[in-house]
Order: sequence, then C-alpha cells, then structure tokens
Amino acid sequence: MGFQEIFGALPEASAKAPGRVNLLGEHTDYQEGFVLPAPLPYSTRVEAGRAEGRVEAYSENVRELRARPLESPPQGDFLDYLLGVVLALREAGHPVPGARFYVRGEVPMGAGLSSSAALEVAALKALRLLYRLPLSDREVAVLAQRAESAYVGVRCGLMDQMVASLGELGKAFFLDTRTLTHENLPLPPKTRVAVLDLGLGRRLAEAGYNQRRQEAEEAARRLGVRALRDVADPSLVEGLPEPLNKRARHVVSENLRVLRGAEALRRGDARTFGELMVQSHRSLSQDYEVSLPELDQLVEEALGAGALGAKLTGAGFGGAVVALLEEGRYEAFRKALLSRFPGLRVL
Ligand code: GLA
Repeated sequence: MGFQEIFGALPEASAKAPGRVNLLGEHTDYQEGFVLPAPLPYSTRVEAGRAEGRVEAYSENVRELRARPLESPPQGDFLDYLLGVVLALREAGHPVPGARFYVRGEVPMGAGLSSSAALEVAALKALRLLYRLPLSDREVAVLAQRAESAYVGVRCGLMDQMVASLGELGKAFFLDTRTLTHENLPLPPKTRVAVLDLGLGRRLAEAGYNQRRQEAEEAARRLGVRALRDVADPSLVEGLPEPLNKRARHVVSENLRVLRGAEALRRGDARTFGELMVQSHRSLSQDYEVSLPELDQLVEEALGAGALGAKLTGAGFGGAVVALLEEGRYEAFRKALLSRFPGLRVL
C-alpha cells in the first residue's frame, strides 16, 4: 500500500518526526519548567497532497481511510490530529485549503512515547513543504501543541512537540519551556538508554493528567507565583494543604533535578544522572502519584539488573519505563528482565 494506491496520485511532499522518551523532567512543562527528553529511533512518516475543504488520511497502523470536512468536530480517531494541525495552521493565518495524508508510524502507541506529537509534527512539516509555509521548526512545535490542546482536547505541555521537531537523535534535548531555549546535550559516554514497555496501556490517563495539571495550577496560585518554576524556596510548598504540597514538591524538586541532570550530562557523569532518574521516579510515585505498582516494580527490577537509573517516562498512569545503563551490560540486563517479565518489550 502507498499514497498512490489510496489516492490515485503521487504524494507532493513528505516528512517524518520521531517519538521521544523523557529522561528527566516529568510534569514540569505545563508549569513553565525544565525538561530533558531524547528523540527515539522510531518515527512517523507522513506523505501529503493537496485537497480542498477537507482532510483525508489513510493510516497504515489502523488500516483505515478517513475523511472529514474542515468544519467537523473531533471524533476521537487518528484523523483528529491531522484535522487539528490543518485548523491550527489556518487559525494562525496560513492559507491551507485542506490536505490528504498517508501515515506510516513506527512509534509504539499507548506507551507514553509521544506517537501523537510525532504524527502532528510530521504532518506539519509535510504541509510546510506542500504549501511552502514560512515556518520555523519551533513554530511547527508550537502549532502542533496548539492542535493537540485546542482541537484534540489534551491539555499537554510543549515538551513532546518540541523534541519531535527539534531534537537530535542520540542526544538529550534540554529545554526551558518558558523561554523555549534549548540545547542538545550528549548522553554520557559508554551508556545506553533502554525503554521497557510492559504493554500496560494507560489507565484513565487523560482525566488523571488534567487533574494533576489543575492541582499544580492551584498550588502556584496559592503560592502567589506565575508558575511553580518560580518557587525560589522549596520549603514554601510545605505550607500548602494536602495534596497540593506533594504536587508542588514534585514539580519544584523535579526542576532542580533537570538542572542538575543537564550539568551531569555536560561532565559525562552517568552515575549522578542515573541517581537523579531514580529520585525522579520516587517523586512521581510518592508525591505526584502518577505511577502504578507494576511500574514501581519494573523500576526496582531494572535497578536490580544493573541499571544506573530508571524511572517511568511520560505522563504516567501506565506507559513505559526508561533506564540508563552501561553499554557493556545491555545484553545481560535485557536477559535478566525478560526472564522476570516474559511479555516485556525492550526497545
Ligand atoms: C505528556 C505530555 C507532556 C508532559 C508529560 C509529563 O507526555 O504530553 O507535555 O506534560 O506528559 O512530563
């Protein structure tokens, strides 16, 4: 199958964007904080052609052709992301009359690895070529996030779209989500990142995510700051009522961990980076309460199997675990974990 078989014409533009794994800095991006994700070697490729007044798309992953006029409301399928980016472009003043897409995605879905950001960014980059739009990669990321929050309805931060649009494979992407300044940092020498996916899916992720976001906003409001990023004295969060104190404690301490993590990467210090990942996971589990017993256990087992650090990655409520290990230990690590969790996918 290909674009031509589906639409009877050749594609006029094509682009791709990767999924991501987040190494440090969870649930900080919607409080204008710091994050440290890395692109994955798995991408979504989108081929595009012109259309008028409608958006049509075929996805190889779900093997479905879908089409809707531009005025349609979201319907909870993959076409929402594509219609969403076309509408975001139009709202930003770009003359995009419609489009046809052929989508081929390698990023595992439902594992918290940002397959949706990969799809949005790849589609926007294909549209940029197709309609010769004067957009920077950063503007692409901002429009992708707008599509997801305004049209698809997930009030996510900017991390996933920024790393999908601007990240460099093999490097960590250190991003200040307030100023959008970013830096590609090398991973520690002789280490390897492993993604561990138990296939848990995500349970009530959207409701849980939006609730955490509201709690963080409420905590910032009570502390009298624009965002939790601005809390200068971490002890101030202890005066908040439960559970806002715990939520704020996570965000404030997580921002510090990202800053320390970036420093550790600059000096090639894998051990410190690994310790920060472990602290991040404990904070996500105990203070932010977005982990699951299965993820806690997988993190412990990964550490037991020799990882320098491990934590859940992404929003939590399911999804995958990311581990950092010494390159030479990878095979033994993989075998040890597969013998404990037979259904595990190690990416
Ligand atoms: C999801 C969101 C991101 C970020 C993470 C948690 O991946 O899309 O914006 O908030 O959760 O770190």
